[in-house]
Amino acid sequence: MFDAEKHQDFKNLSKVLYTEDQIIARVKELGAQISKDYAEQDLILVSVLKGGIVFLADLLRSITIPVRFDVVGASSYGTSLTASSCVKITKELDLDIRGKHVLIVEDVLDTGRTLQVLMDLLRMQEPASLDICCLFDKPIGRRVKINCKYVGFDLPDEFVVGYGLDAKEYFRGLPCLGVPTKEALDRILQ
Ligand code: IMP
Ligand code: MG
Repeated sequence: MFDAEKHQDFKNLSKVLYTEDQIIARVKELGAQISKDYAEQDLILVSVLKGGIVFLADLLRSITIPVRFDVVGASSYGTSLTASSCVKITKELDLDIRGKHVLIVEDVLDTGRTLQVLMDLLRMQEPASLDICCLFDKPIGRRVKINCKYVGFDLPDEFVVGYGLDAKEYFRGLPCLGVPTKEALDRILQ
């Protein structure tokens, strides 16, 4: 198995919050639970670009029932590291989700605004059910109420990177989740 410590970005973390092994084990548990809950149902996973696709790729292979997936694009306006209040949909679905069971697969839930906009958009397409599976949750950051059916891990109110999460598009390939050093962030943001 790939060892996160061999990744060059590992040295740019001031601490690791969840190791690669912890994440993989939790994703497997989520996959097993989803397989049980959606047995015999026509399930479509909908992931959110770009951060959600690393989680999607692993979750998809942990689910043991037939499943399809699609991706939507959503981005907060601006490029700062703090969440912005405006969310823009940059790519819509290709699959027809009407009458299907839809599970949104998201990397991190912070203010909740991205998922609120997405839920409203998808609900208009009248799926049979619409729920959320979020790997990382920062409950302290919440500004709007969001109900997640599945949550992987809780996070403190810190800016984190790795396992799909980025700082200015860097760090997405790091297999663990951690807090970047101030020096690394300053370098990336300059
Ligand atoms: P929300 O709309 O505030 O819930 O933010 C969700 C989006 O903000 C996520 O899909 C991420 O793209 C981004 N985000 C929130 N917190 C972090 C973080 O700590 N690191 C990297 N991206 C984050
Ligand atoms: Mg995201």
